[in-house]
Amino acid sequence: MSDLFSTYQLKGITLKNRIAIPPMCQYMAEDGVVNDWHKVHYASLARGGSGLVIVEATAVAPEGRITPYCLGLWNDEQAEELREIVKSIKDAGSVPGIQIAHAGRKASANIPWEGDDHIPADRADAWQPIGPSAIAFGGDLPRIPTEMTVDEIKRVQQDFVKAAQRAFDIGFEWLELHFAHGYLAQSFFSPHSNHRTDQYGGSYENRARFSLETLAAVRTVWPDNLPLTARFGVLEFDGKDEETLTESIKLVTEWRQNGLDMLSVSVGFTIPETNIPWGPAFMAPIAQRVRNEAKIPVSSAWGFGAPKLADGAIRNEELDLAMIGRAHLENPNWPYEAAKVLGKDSPAWVLPPPYAHWLSRYKSPTAD
Ligand SMILES: Cc1cc2nc3c(=O)[nH]c(=O)nc-3n(C[C@H](O)[C@H](O)[C@H](O)COP(=O)(O)O)c2cc1C
Repeated sequence: MSDLFSTYQLKGITLKNRIAIPPMCQYMAEDGVVNDWHKVHYASLARGGSGLVIVEATAVAPEGRITPYCLGLWNDEQAEELREIVKSIKDAGSVPGIQIAHAGRKASANIPWEGDDHIPADRADAWQPIGPSAIAFGGDLPRIPTEMTVDEIKRVQQDFVKAAQRAFDIGFEWLELHFAHGYLAQSFFSPHSNHRTDQYGGSYENRARFSLETLAAVRTVWPDNLPLTARFGVLEFDGKDEETLTESIKLVTEWRQNGLDMLSVSVGFTIPETNIPWGPAFMAPIAQRVRNEAKIPVSSAWGFGAPKLADGAIRNEELDLAMIGRAHLENPNWPYEAAKVLGKDSPAWVLPPPYAHWLSRYKSPTAD
């Protein structure tokens, strides 16, 4: 039976354990380029001992950023500056992953601690968001996106391909397509946000087209031996969950048949009015259903930051990987904490030797 500290192999990549750090935007970049903040942040997370570190949502095009301070991968300078992060993650014995993204109609927002709402259209740092249809998300994100032409759809798909190529060129070994959270790909699939009448809207086949074409195009440049994964909101908690989940599982199955290696199972966040049952590990049974029915390895986040919960989800075959997000912001050495709680032998040795050597013979004065 596998547990949280079992190794995990996907394609040609072996993770040293089942702990993964999900993408978490830092909103600290300028012109999409990483700086010292990101370099220290990712090195410190990787040294904490997780098997996989996925770099935050990184926009494939300038208008695809959530905020003006999001990372980008639409030019070579952005890529070059990311190399140091790739190296620091590998040097720590973790696997470097990156999530590439287009925020669609949720783009052009203020950073979370300055409102998390759309930047007023007349402010100099705002830009016009695009989406499948001219329908706003609503709530704090009221801007109406411009409906994309088919040429624009093709352009953005090529932006995903170019970003994937750059990610490979600078050494990332794990690629996650951000098809979740109400951003562009999720909004193409959801009837809430896609009212198109052409080949990209209406029927299941048409709403699925954007993501299926994007995935297939990315797969042509992302090597076969490296994991290509996606994050996707499989339901909205909007009262139509069985219907949405059934369609989502059909789509994930098609993605698998077209080269997807793993799904990070998440919530849609396509509309503001939902009834999400927030609670520890609330996505676990849903992730397991996707795993069983779409026959694809899965990961999931949302409240797995208690070691026994994360370990239990792996042991029960609900998840193949446990994504531990905010618990790593609280304690970048969370895997060490987990190793102690779960009674692993020599728990300090999940950390690098310059920490492990001392901690293995250290009794914290606060322990009693
Ligand atoms: C600061 C922060 C930034 C986030 N940025 C992203 C992101 O870039 N891409 C994404 O898919 N999810 C993002 N999320 C969601 C996390 O990946 C994760 O799903 C969420 O934190 C729940 O997991 P947790 O309970 O372990 O924290 C973010 C969450 C936080 C707290």
